Amino acid sequence: MAEPCDAVDVIMTKRDGKTLSIPQIKWMIDAYTRGVVAEEQMSALLMAIFLQGFTREELNCWTDAMIASGERLDFTELARPTVDKHSTGGVGDKITLPLSAVVASFGVAVPQLSGRGLGHTGGTLDKLESIPGWRAALSLDEMKKQLSEIGAVVCQAGSGLAPADRKLYALRDVTGTVASIPLIASSIMSKKIAEGTSALMLDVKCGSGAFMTEIGPAQELASTMVEIGEDHGVHTVALITDMSTPLGKTVGNALEVRESVEVLAGGGPDDVIELTLRLAREMLDAASTIVEKKGIPGAGVSPGSKEALRRAEALREADLAESLKNGRAMDSWRAIITAQGGDPDAELGTAQDHEEILCPTDGFMTRLDALKVGVAGWRLGAGRARKEDAVQIGAGIQLHAKPGDSVRRGQSLMTLHSDTPEAFQRAKEVLEGAWTIDDNPPEPSSVVIDRVASAP
Ligand code: URA
Repeated sequence: MAEPCDAVDVIMTKRDGKTLSIPQIKWMIDAYTRGVVAEEQMSALLMAIFLQGFTREELNCWTDAMIASGERLDFTELARPTVDKHSTGGVGDKITLPLSAVVASFGVAVPQLSGRGLGHTGGTLDKLESIPGWRAALSLDEMKKQLSEIGAVVCQAGSGLAPADRKLYALRDVTGTVASIPLIASSIMSKKIAEGTSALMLDVKCGSGAFMTEIGPAQELASTMVEIGEDHGVHTVALITDMSTPLGKTVGNALEVRESVEVLAGGGPDDVIELTLRLAREMLDAASTIVEKKGIPGAGVSPGSKEALRRAEALREADLAESLKNGRAMDSWRAIITAQGGDPDAELGTAQDHEEILCPTDGFMTRLDALKVGVAGWRLGAGRARKEDAVQIGAGIQLHAKPGDSVRRGQSLMTLHSDTPEAFQRAKEVLEGAWTIDDNPPEPSSVVIDRVASAP
């Protein structure tokens, strides 16, 4: 237990723009988690941090204290390097599904502790639960067995990881202190570091459908998280990727699983393939660096040994695009789904009703707003308003045109799917003004906007 401090002193120190000491931070987080520091005191401190920020030392100490509030997983006994991925969340972001299968198929362990959707952004667990039989809750032993035998596991995080963050996040939500870069960065990184991965790939979304709508704050969030990761011995790289338009051509749970399976079968939309392959490349490069520098203790491979160099080289040379064509990634997907009770061959549920949205004019689509499409999918039943709500498996949106595509008057631009007929009108209302059709096509653009990594 940390040395007792005075909560009012801690609040006033930060309020006046001074630096908090390590004992002050440790005590505040520990005492708040135990219910000794009152909600109103922590609220005041959060607002002071929101306004005054943190030094790098304060931020690391705050993150450490949140990690120390719960358990820390350890995967060092695995005979594979571990690399996890975290996305800050977006619309149509199903990348975890094909990505974990691709990366696992090359012998890397991907311990993917995921969440459920809230508001307009979808959650990986909701998507996978549209596969009959698939279960999100695994014990630690089941997780380790699956990581060791198959390489990837996608499951829900237990309540023991960084419990201070859960309490703090709920408080930030009702005190106007969510949108603070140090608080977001420490919240995400405390959970990821507690998960025990050796390397971490961050996908920081930027655009209307994301937390960060502008590139400047997205870069600052990415570099803050990369610094925290590296300062905690977790090799961390971030990509900043476009979320001004939805990823892929589907938004909604079963719809997105179908699209992911198309990608694993060698087809699927270009942007989903591009981002999957780019993140997979970064993850195998990170795994390769880890193998060289730290070896693989669980496989008896020592750092810098001939065997470590051979394995690192093989990871760097892996042909990722080919793994989507030759069935290697698909085999890995089928094994991951089956191990968690799912039937990879089962028909996925569809919604009871659908409606088309028709194109009003000829031209090129130059814009399709991610936020509006995300909110429409949510209103159709693909997302939830409160944690305890259920999602509809088949609800969502199929996009028949994306920015850059030529379109004709009267063609279907999108199909809306829902089990609740009254939802269609509300979805159509939010889709007003969601796209632009012009005479000329937009400049081609890449889904990856920037890359942030620490200097070697
Ligand atoms: N996700 C988190 O886990 N924490 C935040 O603060 C924001 C997004």
